[in-house]
Amino acid sequence: MKRIIDILTEELKEAFEQCDIDSKFAKVSVSNRPDLCEYQCNGAMAAAKQYKTAPIKIAEKIVDVLKNSNNMKDVTAVMPGFINFNLNSDFVADYINEMAKDAKFGYEPSEKNKSIVVDYGGANVAKPLHVGHLRSAVIGESIKRILKYDENTVIGDVHLGDWGLQMGLIIVELKERKPELVYFDENYSGEYPKEAPFTISELEEIYPCASGKSKENPEFKEMAHQATLKLQQGYAPYRAIWEHILKVSIEDLKKNYGNLNVEFDLWKGESDADPYIPGLIKLLNDKSLLHESQGAMVVDVMEETDSKEIPPCIVQKSDGAALYATSDLATLIQREEDYKPDMVIYVADKRQEMHFTQVFRVAKKAGIVGENTELVFNGFGTMNGKDGKPFKTRDGGVMRLENLIKEIDGAVYNKIMENRTVSEEEAKKTADIVGLSALKYGDLSNQAAKDYIFDIERFSSFEGNTGPYILYTIVRIKSIIEKYGRETEAKVLPADKGSEKELMLVLSKYQDMIKTAVEELAPHKICAYIYDVANAFNKFYHDTKILAEEDEEKKAGYISLITLTKNILEQSIDLLGFEAPERM
Ligand code: ARG
Repeated sequence: MKRIIDILTEELKEAFEQCDIDSKFAKVSVSNRPDLCEYQCNGAMAAAKQYKTAPIKIAEKIVDVLKNSNNMKDVTAVMPGFINFNLNSDFVADYINEMAKDAKFGYEPSEKNKSIVVDYGGANVAKPLHVGHLRSAVIGESIKRILKYDENTVIGDVHLGDWGLQMGLIIVELKERKPELVYFDENYSGEYPKEAPFTISELEEIYPCASGKSKENPEFKEMAHQATLKLQQGYAPYRAIWEHILKVSIEDLKKNYGNLNVEFDLWKGESDADPYIPGLIKLLNDKSLLHESQGAMVVDVMEETDSKEIPPCIVQKSDGAALYATSDLATLIQREEDYKPDMVIYVADKRQEMHFTQVFRVAKKAGIVGENTELVFNGFGTMNGKDGKPFKTRDGGVMRLENLIKEIDGAVYNKIMENRTVSEEEAKKTADIVGLSALKYGDLSNQAAKDYIFDIERFSSFEGNTGPYILYTIVRIKSIIEKYGRETEAKVLPADKGSEKELMLVLSKYQDMIKTAVEELAPHKICAYIYDVANAFNKFYHDTKILAEEDEEKKAGYISLITLTKNILEQSIDLLGFEAPERM
């Protein structure tokens, strides 16, 4: 469907031309003074300069033409030269009825179907998930859903950190604890056990213990380093342990991500990029991009236009070891082979920006990706506690994801039980659903790049700009529709009331919002929009006796309007990655 703003602009353009004024001035915008009008055009002011006349004169001429419009009403010229107007109620109602008939409420996906890889999650195997991983998962999942909704071919890849020093640390610590295991018997030549020599809880305890030791004991650290190298060189017993670590951790990660409503299409990791590293080094060599610097092999990436120093990208350490950048470059080769993506989006902490700048530049310089491939870094800010410092638990540690979710579900549960309308069991289930909305909306409603304060009290409140408020609104609409007793295909009637029209006007902007969310990869635009929708609905609800309306046609029209409201809210929260319960 055409956007309302485009329909209006076309009409304005014609009016400008009729008045012999260049139609490039006919720009329409949503009014920034909703108390005065719904839409406005400020073009007369700019035109006045070119035509050397008073803006109000131009505005008045245009207004004269627009007086006959079918779509606009109350068109007025206001000093010094604004053109203010409202929309005809019939026009708005017709538009809303068209939207209701369309599966995407009038949104038309971008013309080009792109192939897009979204690299998000990024958990490190065998290390606890921390709040940074939470942000990556929550934001990336939403971006992935938004791009799928736009009908691109999207692949979400968790890109696990599964190839680093943590593996060596675990192997060495395991050897100290259980030296009798066959993996540590150099003369052993049989098959390795199918069963992992540890459970996930043991693994969770082994890693921090080993990591602590390596900080105090350089010898231990060196052993871990050697074990990591051996693993990466393919030493069979260590590969076998590594596979156990992976299997046990991934099972746990799947559960964790599942609880967050986060699903990946691909479970690749840094280790999958490893086989591509020799090819990468050869390519860089062939293109004469690689040179030695202090024993390491690096690629220069500084460009003339840079205003600050961009250090060379290190791809190989003096001992031959690969680095984070090497692995990301090799992964790009792999992705190119597998998907030829038009776009690769990385959702990671914004402190990794330099890393990605370097990687992207090397990838372009070396022709690993084509000139037109978009490499996008979507860096997010830090989640802070109420004290404004990076979020910690009460005892000062980094909060584990599971506990974080438990805490927020608990807060929501207490709120639900305050109302005491549902059984304890139902309250628990509902609390999980609502808690997730609190967590995700609390994160997504901020522009991703900004730091934000994690405030359980505020996020789980049923009032204000929160996930639970949005869900509460959906549930309220569901219950009205249920009481009405049936679905209706009745037409939404032209609105005679302020808040009813207001609701329609907000709904009519759905496709504008989605378009921006797609272009800017910005879930927070969806949050801002559904908050407006929820507010507009609740105002309408307070002004209107929906079910008590005696005029059946009018009542059915109301039901159609709130059904569309509900459908739009539900679609929107699905793009954010959560859902609404039946009751709350
Ligand atoms: N594992 C990394 C971390 O925990 C994040 C990975 C981000 N993705 C990437 N392709 N580098 O910081």
